Amino acid sequence: MRILLAIETSCDDTSVSILDMNSGIVIDTLSVSQMIHENYGGVVPELASRKHFTNIFPLIDELFMKNNTDYNSIELIAVTYAPGLLGSLLVGVTVAKSIALSLDIPIVAVHHIEGHICSNFMDSSELEFPFISLVISGGHTQLVRVNDYNRYEIIGDTLDDSCGEAFDKVAKMLDLGYPGGPVVDRLAKQGIRDVGFPRPLLNKPNYDFSFSGLKTAVKVFLKNNPEVSREDICHSFQNAVCDVLYRKTERLLCETGIKRLVLAGGVAANSQIREKMASLEGVIVNLPERKYCTDNAGMIAKAAWFRFRNGFNLLKPGKYDDLNPVAYMRLDEEKKLD
Ligand code: KG4
Ligand code: ZN
Repeated sequence: MRILLAIETSCDDTSVSILDMNSGIVIDTLSVSQMIHENYGGVVPELASRKHFTNIFPLIDELFMKNNTDYNSIELIAVTYAPGLLGSLLVGVTVAKSIALSLDIPIVAVHHIEGHICSNFMDSSELEFPFISLVISGGHTQLVRVNDYNRYEIIGDTLDDSCGEAFDKVAKMLDLGYPGGPVVDRLAKQGIRDVGFPRPLLNKPNYDFSFSGLKTAVKVFLKNNPEVSREDICHSFQNAVCDVLYRKTERLLCETGIKRLVLAGGVAANSQIREKMASLEGVIVNLPERKYCTDNAGMIAKAAWFRFRNGFNLLKPGKYDDLNPVAYMRLDEEKKLD
């Protein structure tokens, strides 16, 4: 079998994946989450890049062994080159270049957020345009209109903290560890009382989000009401986030008349948000499998497969110098490299 090997190292997860070049199906993905950052309550960039470097080659060896394949079967390399932590991206890009160089094969450079969107299409299914994507991750909160391959319009964005950051910061206030999203999700289910946190920007006519005021509201409430349970705080906070995301998304779908919604990003693993979005009437809602919500190379493999077929960012041998990591890059401002 001829394979595509994908590499994802944009933040604190080292991940590699293989995809069957004939069918476009993601065969297997292995990831290592860097637990070291738990000690600091957030990702330490320098530590993240060092860890990627020590993790990556043993992880590729393990993936090959598990799937009874090897370097000689690779036809194409895919790598996340933007956006993310520069040092972390640099490890992935450098490893991709060195493998491609030694095998004399092309590289597909992938935008991380496009990867998240493609986490909904890991089997042989095709993208159907147009659709709206709600991207909710540790770094992004965006409503995106996807018109065609690589044709994105960012309609709403966060003005301050991302949705995932808000989950992580509230979890930190409650001493729930890092990353906080999964624990807040679990505790929210046990909460009973909603203390009524604000719904930021809900009544503004645009599609932008803001979560820093909500985070401050939780902080002030905690100070003044130390007796309220962590379960009720999580329940109330999550209700507020979910409400804002749902109502803005619903309004955009209604206004554009688009009938398909694609959820993407780590926060798309959240039980309440999934359930609420799935209840949208008259809309086909794509929810990525939970294991593909947070950062993983499977989604990069799939995005690379679409890019390869559409001839976007496909760097032939001799052209690798055009590929460099980029820390900040909006999805709708990506310039073709090849
Ligand atoms: O997409 P992702 O892996 O990383 C970025 O590209 O930023 O998202 C990570 C974020 C973290 O903030 C984490 O707390 C959040 O996703 N997250 C969740 C859940 N699982 C992960 N947030 C809410 N509920 C969850 N179940
Ligand atoms: Zn991500």
